[in-house]
Amino acid sequence: MIDIQNIRAQFPILNQEVNGKPLIYFDNGASSQKPQAVIDALVNYYSKDHANVHRGVHTLSQRATDKFEAVRKKTQAFVNAAHDHEIIFTRGTTEAINLVASSFKIFMEEGDEVLISAMEHHSNIVPWQMMCEETGAVLKVIPLDEKGQIIMERFDELLTGKTKMVAINHVSNTLGTINPIEEIIYKAHKVAAAVLIDGAQSCPHMKIDVQDLDADFYCFSSHKMYGPTGIGVLYGKEEWLNDMPPYQGGGEMIDTCTFEDTTFNELPFKFEAGTPNIADTIAFGAAIDWMNEIGIENIGAWEHELLEYATEKLSEIEGIRFIGQAEKKASLVSFLVGDIHPYDLGTLLDQLGIAVRTGHHCTQPLMDYYQIPGTVRASFAVYNTKEEIDQFVAAVKRAALMLG
Ligand code: ALA
Repeated sequence: MIDIQNIRAQFPILNQEVNGKPLIYFDNGASSQKPQAVIDALVNYYSKDHANVHRGVHTLSQRATDKFEAVRKKTQAFVNAAHDHEIIFTRGTTEAINLVASSFKIFMEEGDEVLISAMEHHSNIVPWQMMCEETGAVLKVIPLDEKGQIIMERFDELLTGKTKMVAINHVSNTLGTINPIEEIIYKAHKVAAAVLIDGAQSCPHMKIDVQDLDADFYCFSSHKMYGPTGIGVLYGKEEWLNDMPPYQGGGEMIDTCTFEDTTFNELPFKFEAGTPNIADTIAFGAAIDWMNEIGIENIGAWEHELLEYATEKLSEIEGIRFIGQAEKKASLVSFLVGDIHPYDLGTLLDQLGIAVRTGHHCTQPLMDYYQIPGTVRASFAVYNTKEEIDQFVAAVKRAALMLG
């Protein structure tokens, strides 16, 4: 059992009023809040340890380098990667996907295909569109059923010898759907396609084992995992990363450099040009420690309880329509009430101290598919409670009465 009150007490930001009401923070899908341990790690680093990494023989540089590289190993362990050099630090999931879409171009020929699903975030659509534009490859989209699940028969049809890349989210940020990525990866490998998994919404909530999944690439962001913004991870299989060209040029990523020619550094440095985000990486390490201490299974179990409770309570509201009712869902609910515009509902909830996300959630094609302008989305983290859900449901009812 986890002690929620003890967990909440570690998040200073939660202890405040918004618009005269105690803050209820249900926008964790966009970004989660930070425990004191993560805030302390940032302050301590800048107070005691800061210097550039991998560059100096002096004590501070070596100390910063050791702390920075220790986080690579922690991240490796967190997702069970085979090697620490398969962990590339990026600015976030978006940059990780862009890196692959850019560097993977060398394997693409005109007429090759990239397969994505209809529930992808813009960051797992646009980089592939750009790649297809440049290479003459073709972007194909797997449709969804009415519950917001990938239609696997359609995936089977669309997956062919032409498919070179399958790029799918593990968990939909808008619908909460948990996709059957094990089956998708297994089938994609049968036609020799690589698979990139957008794990931005899964890593905060469930145990990820990239070796067990056999994913070629797996991307995620620290800021949705109780860590700082501006730091994310690309896990890539060594075989692919070794064959892919660098994404950016600069310091750190070279082995030798003359005006005539440059040779590239070994992994992971080949993909980390320039001074990295040292402070946030080190604080991300503190976030991983914090999550490990609670246990990702415990985090996921509590959030699942919150999801079931919220779904049951929200179902009592007249005119509610859930967008995304997959059999397997992560801890978020997207909905509309009657004809009320999601922005209006979100604005009124904010007046009552409740933070939710409203709008298209960076999934405009998915909104077009459902023919809706957007949704109200409540997304939960380990520090949320059933009492907050009760207040949220009462607030939605009140707002619906006022706006309906
Ligand atoms: N992708 C993030 C969200 O779903 C920002 O809110």
